[in-house]
Amino acid sequence: MIKIDYSKCLKCGKCLMVCKRGPLRAPEKDGEAPLVIEDENAACFLCAHCASVCPAGAITVEGLKDVEFGALPSAAPHYEDYIAFIRSRRSTRNYKNIPVPGELIARVIDSARYAPTAKNSCGVCVTAVTGNSVSKLAGLTFEFYKGLMEIVKSPVKKYFFMLAAGISTFRAIKKNMPAFEYGYKMWLDGTDLLFYDAPALLIVHADKTLPMPKDDCDYALYEMTLAAETLGLATCVNGFFLRAAENSKELRRFIKLPAGHEPYGAITLGFPALKFKKTPARKPVNVTYIS
Ligand SMILES: Cc1cc2nc3c(=O)[nH]c(=O)nc-3n(C[C@H](O)[C@H](O)[C@H](O)COP(=O)(O)O)c2cc1C
Repeated sequence: MIKIDYSKCLKCGKCLMVCKRGPLRAPEKDGEAPLVIEDENAACFLCAHCASVCPAGAITVEGLKDVEFGALPSAAPHYEDYIAFIRSRRSTRNYKNIPVPGELIARVIDSARYAPTAKNSCGVCVTAVTGNSVSKLAGLTFEFYKGLMEIVKSPVKKYFFMLAAGISTFRAIKKNMPAFEYGYKMWLDGTDLLFYDAPALLIVHADKTLPMPKDDCDYALYEMTLAAETLGLATCVNGFFLRAAENSKELRRFIKLPAGHEPYGAITLGFPALKFKKTPARKPVNVTYIS
């Protein structure tokens, strides 16, 4: 709950400006301090914007440590610098054969807490897979895809699969079958086209009953990809693993997915073995302006 120290409050009204539907209400008379109301319709999701904007430090949010973060920079980075930075991020499929120190993994993960979450649920969880566990997980993932290949090839299995999963899911799997088969063959030959021998894999997951868990995890994942770049690390989003983890009990068990959680994204992480010299060509965004 929000608490105002009225002895400090400057009655500037800034907290009221940022609190659109929450428990802060305008005072009955001009020049008085804002009120904190206890109304179940006042949806406070502890965004703490009121405390963040208060120039007097008069507001505290129960359960959140106010002193944790240092002062904000006075200005955002220049647009050109920021665009140059995000343009330099590349999906990286060549990693140095050295582990990522735990301290760097922790710093990458910490960046996820600053991503927006629906209703400020802050429910994004991260599982970090390192060491031999990365290749064990790759092996299990390929076993899952091997099972799918067997389904596609067997008329009986195919029939029951289509009944259970639907024809469009079956068609999507069939379409990707050459990629699965090639990846599996290469894996048996000793080449990892799934995780590219990355020394670490970060998986984002969340309770599926949160308001918008997938979106929360997407934003958090992208924050981590950018944070990794600032630390000299590189990443690659991994949809192949995610699709398998969504559907495989073995994979869910291996990554210790809590009951009620869904995996919503994964990135490989490691020190890049190659340096990109320029941004690859990209189509412009298709924009519609309505005024
Ligand atoms: C949802 C999603 C899933 C992806 N899955 C994979 C994957 O399974 N394997 C892979 O090598 N790259 C994967 N990528 C990386 C894309 O291929 C990559 O972003 C794209 O080729 C553009 O390259 P860039 O990120 O360097 O700009 C994925 C990217 C996204 C956004």
